[in-house]
Amino acid sequence: MAQLIDGKAISAQVRNEVKQAVAERIAAGHRPPYLAVVLVGDDPASASYVRGKAKASAEVGIQSDTLTYDASISEQELLDIVQRLNDDEGVDGILVQLPLPDHIDDRKVIHAIDPAKDVDCFHPESVGNLVIGLDGFQPATPAGIVEMLQRTEIQTSGAQCVIIGRSNIVGKPLANLMLKKGLDSTVTVCHSRTKDLPAIARQADILVAAIGRANFVTADMVKPGAVVIDVGINRVDDDSRERGYRLVGDVDFEAVEPIASAITPVPGGVGPMTIAVLLQNTLRAATGA
Ligand code: GUN
Repeated sequence: MAQLIDGKAISAQVRNEVKQAVAERIAAGHRPPYLAVVLVGDDPASASYVRGKAKASAEVGIQSDTLTYDASISEQELLDIVQRLNDDEGVDGILVQLPLPDHIDDRKVIHAIDPAKDVDCFHPESVGNLVIGLDGFQPATPAGIVEMLQRTEIQTSGAQCVIIGRSNIVGKPLANLMLKKGLDSTVTVCHSRTKDLPAIARQADILVAAIGRANFVTADMVKPGAVVIDVGINRVDDDSRERGYRLVGDVDFEAVEPIASAITPVPGGVGPMTIAVLLQNTLRAATGA
């Protein structure tokens, strides 16, 4: 039986720490940290993520507003809004919810955010700092994974960490974090063109699945005793559920759990950690630390 790594509980712990630090800042005479969230269009998933971020912010004493714009907004108008938020000293963190409508270049908008307010850690300057190991904002999902590993006292130093998936928001930044001094893992990143991926995955002491394919990681890809981190959130049809689907990860949990030493569930694993890191970043933006 693998240890279940409880993302909900660890996220609550982190959020409590942020709450305490915010209360201490306010007691010391500072205003509350302020997060500006920009939401363009009416994608229900984005709206739901943004509601979650606003609610979690409020719970720890971080003020936030969601600035909502019609999908027809021009790229220039959006760039002007970001510039206004950059210039506003009352705004500590800026988050532009992605994806943006097709006529707007995501990269241009992300590049326009002041790196000192880039709580998503998406700006190239933030990514560069991460790669060279400087302290700064942390990318939400990768840093959430690291928090889970550290708070579960999983040894990362010298560990073989195999990451399946090379995305800009998970695989690549996680590889850089795990390589950092202090974490000191040996990192391999696998992707769709990797030869004999199961054999490489089987070498992992820490195996991270971040490819977005339901049940991709099967028992034959897991070394006995490995720690398995599942970043996937995939919908699979399920007529027994009222909503007609259920959420599953990138790991075949039933098959892998008996082999692993520790594993994250889906839901309730990596997912809840991402908002906790966003709150940490917003606090950091306010303190300038
Ligand atoms: N869309 C999905 N996840 C994210 C995220 O973490 N940040 C932003 N800005 N957009 C997203």
